[in-house]
Amino acid sequence: MQRTRIRALLSSPPAGADVTAAGWVRTRRDAKGGFSFIELNDGSCLANLQVVAGQDLPNYAGDVQRLHPGAAIVVEGPLVASPGKEQNVELRARTLRVLGFCDPLAYPLGKQRIGLDRLRELPHLRARTNTFGAMSRVRNRLAQAVHEFFQSRGFVLMHTPIIATSDCEGAGEMFQVTTLDLDNLPHLDRGGVDYTHDFFSRRTSLTVSGQIEGETYACALGDVYTFGPTFRAENSNTRRHLAEFWMVEPEMAFADLQDDAVVAEAMLKHLFGTVLRDCAEDLAFFEQRVAPGVVARLQRLADKPFAAMEYSEAVAQLQRADCAFEHAPVWGTDLKAEHERYLTEKVTGGEPLVVLNYPAEIKAFYMRLNDDGRTVAAMDILLPGVGEIVGGSQREERLEPLLAAMHARGLNPDDYAHYVDLRRFGSVPHAGFGMGFERLVQFCTGLSNIRDVIPYPRTPRGSE
Ligand code: 4AD
Ligand code: MG
Repeated sequence: MQRTRIRALLSSPPAGADVTAAGWVRTRRDAKGGFSFIELNDGSCLANLQVVAGQDLPNYAGDVQRLHPGAAIVVEGPLVASPGKEQNVELRARTLRVLGFCDPLAYPLGKQRIGLDRLRELPHLRARTNTFGAMSRVRNRLAQAVHEFFQSRGFVLMHTPIIATSDCEGAGEMFQVTTLDLDNLPHLDRGGVDYTHDFFSRRTSLTVSGQIEGETYACALGDVYTFGPTFRAENSNTRRHLAEFWMVEPEMAFADLQDDAVVAEAMLKHLFGTVLRDCAEDLAFFEQRVAPGVVARLQRLADKPFAAMEYSEAVAQLQRADCAFEHAPVWGTDLKAEHERYLTEKVTGGEPLVVLNYPAEIKAFYMRLNDDGRTVAAMDILLPGVGEIVGGSQREERLEPLLAAMHARGLNPDDYAHYVDLRRFGSVPHAGFGMGFERLVQFCTGLSNIRDVIPYPRTPRGSE
């Protein structure tokens, strides 16, 4: 079917040229004098195209007057200047063909506003709402901008595996992948499952991060990045955790913690700047209907340097705070959501915060041990409202400290044999980070629940 997207039609001159539009009816209003106004949306932009359909259409009574929200139609006719002040152009229907009627009694998305929690029960229909249309377009633009940023800096995109044989984060929060019959498992004489009968002859899981593989390619190609789905079986039913999420992970050879933080900040600014420039209509919708202030906040962050602070200083500030935390801030423990909130709202006054050099015992085995012997060269970037958006570090490139860090965490270096090998064969300082893509979309749209920034959220005890 030859059709022009509504986004293009709305910026076309009202020259009376014949055009064809196709989409879903948002509303139909019958006017006096035997004609109807139809608001048509095709997902190409937030705004609808006004279609004017008159009783001169042979199917006016039979079809047009049976159109309800959700129905799909194709309309052909001249695009003309609109006398109404809501829009510049309108389509005068010469022919109108119904592709699919929609029963107004059964269709859950009528004219009335419907809450985001109810929409989560309608994953197959919620994309037709303004909120999810706008979110999807912003998400799309951000994904593209991630590639633009890294490609323009000479990073090589690599596809890291989804099926993993080792636990990158060492936290054991992995979904196991197996072809074994769970009702009839082969057992070893000494107990436990005999994985030699499994598909890969070993225990395997869905990846929690592409970092391990990213490091091997960075230590050959220089600068690489991966952008793929990651899976975590952590049982956290919160507004910012998913069991399946997308992560952007660059890895850079010949780079230290400072270099890492500089790239992460430049990337975030590039992403904020891109949506501000290219998604203005959708952002204006979020500003108006979802999160007042979200656009001004993006504008502020797009060009101002991020605040940075040592982890130790952040804990000291929290301890000095005249604020009753549920969890007392203690050096050597991870920052809780309430602490992150205090730091980004009260300490930086609504700005991002780069937190550097965390205690070794709360971070993963691969982070480089600092000279003080108790902190590692780790970096998290916290955003107001979202919390940790980026987690990264300089990697431990020295063999002995790496083995010691594995032993301290009860990890078996044999399970990471290739990773350990890299430290033997021309090891170089290198660093990288991971950015949670959904948290980025949350920050840019102001949507407070992470389930609303991914088409089909996967969460504990829930999906679909
Ligand atoms: O801090 P994390 O666990 O770091 C890593 O996985 C490193 N291997 C990354 C690297 O250095 N290459 O995760 C990175 C980011 C977090 O800062 C957060 O934004 C996001 O991934 N994230 C989640 N997003 C949604 N749901 C979850 N369950 C998430 N867990 C982490
Ligand atoms: Mg982290």
